[in-house]
Amino acid sequence: METDILIAGCGCSGLYCALHLPSDCQVTVITKADEESNDSFLAQGGMCMLTGEEDYDAYFEDTLAAGHYENDRASVEIMIRSSQDVVEDLVSWGVDFQRDEQGQLMYTREGAHSKSRIVFHEDITGKEITSHLLMEAKKRPNITILEYTTLLDIICSDGICYGAVIRRADGTLEKVAADNVVLATGGVGGVYFHSTNFRHLTGDAIAMALRHNVALKDITYVQIHPTTLYVKEKETRSFLISESMRGEGAKLYDKNGNRFVDELLPRDVLTQKIQEQMQKDGTDYVWEDLRQIPSEELDSHFPNIIEHCRQMGYDVYNECIPVVPAQHYFMGGIRVDHESRTSMPHLYAVGETACNGVHGKNRLASNSLLESLVFAKRAAQDMAKESGRRDAKAQQAALAQVSLDDYRDGNRLEEEYRVAVQKVLGVH
Ligand code: SIN
Repeated sequence: METDILIAGCGCSGLYCALHLPSDCQVTVITKADEESNDSFLAQGGMCMLTGEEDYDAYFEDTLAAGHYENDRASVEIMIRSSQDVVEDLVSWGVDFQRDEQGQLMYTREGAHSKSRIVFHEDITGKEITSHLLMEAKKRPNITILEYTTLLDIICSDGICYGAVIRRADGTLEKVAADNVVLATGGVGGVYFHSTNFRHLTGDAIAMALRHNVALKDITYVQIHPTTLYVKEKETRSFLISESMRGEGAKLYDKNGNRFVDELLPRDVLTQKIQEQMQKDGTDYVWEDLRQIPSEELDSHFPNIIEHCRQMGYDVYNECIPVVPAQHYFMGGIRVDHESRTSMPHLYAVGETACNGVHGKNRLASNSLLESLVFAKRAAQDMAKESGRRDAKAQQAALAQVSLDDYRDGNRLEEEYRVAVQKVLGVH
């Protein structure tokens, strides 16, 4: 197959990148599972935005303080300054953020934010955004989405990316010649025992980067979300109890029903406090009291979380729920510059698999959707600047030297990638 741009991953970063490429550019988006099984669809709390010039310094400082001042400051500035344009884009494509009676955007709050600046749609903001991006992408004749199609490797020669090896839904292996390849493969939660991520998100692009000496950055910076619903049996995926519930007043209690912590501490600090409390109490969880949120707010803002708790046997209007920290987000990843270029020419990385340093050591809540969208658009704009097609002869030679036989044993490759990712992340 030949395509102008191959994008691996159809979460919000992959789709937003595709949507900002020129209409005469042939874009192929592949995804390992169905088009909705990506972490962007799971994002609950919302997306940060600059609410007004008077909030710029505080938003910048909150992002840096949460990130232990290890953030790339230029990335943070780009993200914050681009946020209003992103919201405008999304609204123009039909994304419905919560508004007040005057039609003004409403904002919620999460941990480590000094003020409310998070736009939201109930407790399913990621689904609202990503489903609209998907709808928009399907209207575009230049964008093709291939489900159950897996990126197995990138094809490169002399340190330049020329395409990729993929496995189609029917199991067929194929080489793809592409002018540019964009890695938008999401997080690494699939290599952890407890994670809020889809299980098939195993950091494949990280393994490919290791294989081909593409630079990585902040590779051990992994975020644990403080509050996921505790269940005794091992689940396929930990269910998030959104931080915005604590932002709206939910409280945390020890085994005796006493508050033991400021619920709006940055995620890494709060996670540590909860783990210490569990150890002290000899419990596998702490309690979260959602009854502290006015019931009208619970009903209108968090209907899906309440329903999930009900299905798991909890009546959140009358009792506390057990919560426990779980792996949630990867701040590190494939090192990229401000245009999302990796260290390998013609290879880009966007979204959770990429690291432009915006989050530093610990991501500020609800900066992930925004960061993904902002830097995906910049990748598209950068690719659009390129004039003319690639050196076809060099590309053909690079593809010719790859044997598909090396990719026939899918299980072996999957295991090899999993082990490589676990090793580099320090997961045991
Ligand atoms: C949440 O709703 O708590 C998750 C939002 C995020 O990961 O930023």
